[in-house]
Amino acid sequence: MTVKVAFSGSLRNRLVVTLIGGAALLALLLFFAVRSYAVQIAQSGQDSILEASVTSILDAAAIRNGVIELDLPYSALSMLNTVADDRVFYAILENGEFLSGYQDLVGQTDLMPSGFLFETRQIRDSSARVVSANRLLIGADRRIKVQVILAQTQDALSETLSEISRNAALFGFCFFTLVAGLSFWATKNTIGQLDKLTHSVTRRGPHDLRPFTKPVPREMAPLVTSLNSLMMRLEQSFAQSEDFIAEAAHRVRTPLATVRSYAEATLQRVDKEENRDAMRAMVKAIDESSRAAGQLLDHAMITFRAGHLEQHPLDLVELAQDLVLRLTPIADMKDLKLELDSPQSVPFSGDSVLLQNALRNLIDNAMKYGPTESSVEISISHKEAVQIKVCDFGPGFPAHEIDTLTKRFQRGENAKGTIGSGLGLTIARDVIEAHGGEIQLSNRSGGGACVTLSL
Ligand SMILES: Nc1ncnc2c1ncn2[C@@H]1O[C@H](COP(=O)(O)OP(=O)(O)OP(=O)(O)O)[C@@H](O)[C@H]1O
Ligand SMILES: [Mg+2]
Repeated sequence: MTVKVAFSGSLRNRLVVTLIGGAALLALLLFFAVRSYAVQIAQSGQDSILEASVTSILDAAAIRNGVIELDLPYSALSMLNTVADDRVFYAILENGEFLSGYQDLVGQTDLMPSGFLFETRQIRDSSARVVSANRLLIGADRRIKVQVILAQTQDALSETLSEISRNAALFGFCFFTLVAGLSFWATKNTIGQLDKLTHSVTRRGPHDLRPFTKPVPREMAPLVTSLNSLMMRLEQSFAQSEDFIAEAAHRVRTPLATVRSYAEATLQRVDKEENRDAMRAMVKAIDESSRAAGQLLDHAMITFRAGHLEQHPLDLVELAQDLVLRLTPIADMKDLKLELDSPQSVPFSGDSVLLQNALRNLIDNAMKYGPTESSVEISISHKEAVQIKVCDFGPGFPAHEIDTLTKRFQRGENAKGTIGSGLGLTIARDVIEAHGGEIQLSNRSGGGACVTLSL
């Protein structure tokens, strides 16, 4: 029987989601950090070139004959050449008044800044970096403040940036894949320890209650400790139950047997017929309670032993022969013959106490419900599967009840007047099922009941 366990989430999923979620977040952070760092570096590179270029233009400015003379040096513009052929614009101002160049540049620029002033602007639908700087020219009779505004579009820069972004994205993706792979591996490894413990619990036989001694990770130690303590308590409880059943069987059967023998002896001495009837009823009641107590305790013992079946190699023929020998005196009292038909030996692995109990109940039924002066046929065969068959020459099972007679306390209508508790076939069925086999009830065509145990 397996009890359905209520789940609340999965450790594996929790770990994987946390680790992969963290990896995705880290990959995104990495991507944005690399990209923003690259933007800063690329921008400061362009700014340095613009600064050098504007400086060399300002250096070329001079006052001659009272007017500004400014030849744009070739080097100042050539250093702004880029692979993307970025466009360059300039404007020159004299004391804040536009002098030459591209007038649109002047509109939004701070006139007369101190030092170099950088800004990014849209020029003719393109993003451009603008630098503005000025220089005070001192002539013989006048002072002129020359301002140069220089702009360069950012096509090359954005190409570089998109390449860096692509590489950063690829790098982030590789990082994510690697960390995701590592997360799966780490999760499998961690959960694997739990799986190992689960396997070693399920691999054990039902009566294997030894404590777990294999080393486990520290975090799992409390679980293994409680498991070991549970096993210890279970073992103690099993031992107590087995002792209790054996003790109870002994304590119930012995006084009942004593009472029965006293009642039988008294019956011999009593003369009055009404007293004899009372004594007979008393003996019958004792027989019934003795049988019921015996069968109940046997059933309890079988339920208990079947729960943790002990399997040992045994010979089914030897087991049956022993049983036949022990039951022959009882059969003789009813003029019944117990006939065993079997090969020399049929080896089997199982619990001999349980198997003998099951077979005893079947022979007991055959003797109880079969007619006197007939025989009970017990046959054991070993072809494809092991089969034990017990047949008699009685009236057979009541046809309409045949499917229900193996249920607990179920007695047939033909059982009226016979002592019994309706547990014999239940015991046989439980024993056979515990050994992985099945029981089959049938009626013989010529009359008589047959019970087949297939193992
Ligand atoms: N060989 C048989 N021939 C005819 N009927 C049988 C035979 N064996 C069992 N039965 C029927 O099946 C019923 C169940 O049998 P089962 O052995 O379980 O109980 P029981 O014999 O009545 O009581 P007990 O627990 O003492 O054995 C019987 O009451 C009887 O009606
Ligand atoms: Mg019976």
